[in-house]
Amino acid sequence: MAASAPVLILGGGLMGLAIAHQLARRGLAVTVLSRRRSEAAGFVAAGMLAPHAEGLSGDLLKLGQRSLELVPAWVSQVEADSGLACGLRPSGIVVPFRSDAERDAYPTARSGLVLERGELEREVSGIGNAWTTGLLFEQDGQIDNRRQLMRALERACTCTGVQFEEGAEVQELHHQAEQLNAVTLRRADGDQQTLECTEAVLCSGAWSAELMPQLPVFPVKGQMLSLQAPRHALRRVVFGPGTYLVPREDGLVVVGATSERDAGFSEGLTPEGQKQLQAGIASLLPEAGGWPPMERWWGFRPCTPDGGPLLGRSPLDGVWLACGHHRNGVLLAALTAQLLAEVITKESPSCTDAALLGAFSWSRFAEEDQSSVRQP
Ligand code: GLY
Repeated sequence: MAASAPVLILGGGLMGLAIAHQLARRGLAVTVLSRRRSEAAGFVAAGMLAPHAEGLSGDLLKLGQRSLELVPAWVSQVEADSGLACGLRPSGIVVPFRSDAERDAYPTARSGLVLERGELEREVSGIGNAWTTGLLFEQDGQIDNRRQLMRALERACTCTGVQFEEGAEVQELHHQAEQLNAVTLRRADGDQQTLECTEAVLCSGAWSAELMPQLPVFPVKGQMLSLQAPRHALRRVVFGPGTYLVPREDGLVVVGATSERDAGFSEGLTPEGQKQLQAGIASLLPEAGGWPPMERWWGFRPCTPDGGPLLGRSPLDGVWLACGHHRNGVLLAALTAQLLAEVITKESPSCTDAALLGAFSWSRFAEEDQSSVRQP
């Protein structure tokens, strides 16, 4: 790569910003090409840092736990570079259950503190009667991604020299002998241009397969809403089946989320989706049904057949992958940015990082019949 050729970041969402920031901190020239900021999952998600509450297992749990460890230092770095707070809250997360058997069968049960009904009521005042027990994951938490983290990361990027092009839709990757040599993009003013480049990071979220169709990334739509609660009405995140409540410092409660695998990229809220969230609220915390609604929105999780991300090498030399984070993008951003910065700058990753890059390589799907991989 010529010294001045920027690394192109194909996608201006959370992954793109986090990677751009780490690369710029390491002295690389970086340009972020972003189609529409508003569609980024980083602006949609609830911001849970929840490898245990999500009940992850296997390598995905290891990936999540490793990223969770990195989050405080990563956030401090973003805050120092941007001068803006990110809204990290070590609030802990309570997962309620209807029976002890359900609780004990939870994949991460051994990492949580068992709550009997009385303790559950103390942790989540007003929790619905159906919930007889729970697990408290004190090590899990949340960050205010929509209002704080994304803005702080954007600022950290500009302060470290990252260039941005908004409204730029990358339409094609060009290569010679399996090595990336250019991208074609359409600018906001409609102009089409081909840019020479030899290094790019594909982090276009749910749209990643549009540029590289062999990647098994597909959208899983999520509908969300927020409520304004009295300031300290809820201390912990409450993570129920199909619905969760994430209380921010100022009393805003983010409520998620539907998980619609058959919706494709269909835009908009649906009565069924909103009813599902209302039913979840009524079951988890009946009094929250009376809190004023603030906003409703939707977005598209970038999912893969095994729910794990695609990290590192791609089928094309010079194109690096950071996509497919499904339900765990906010949690995994810190580690994703570190891993990608390591591989792009050819730093030697630690043994743990190297093993994780191996486990989440796109090539785990390369042998499969692509017609059979879109399974849960
Ligand atoms: N991480 C929660 C969700 O994707 O709904």
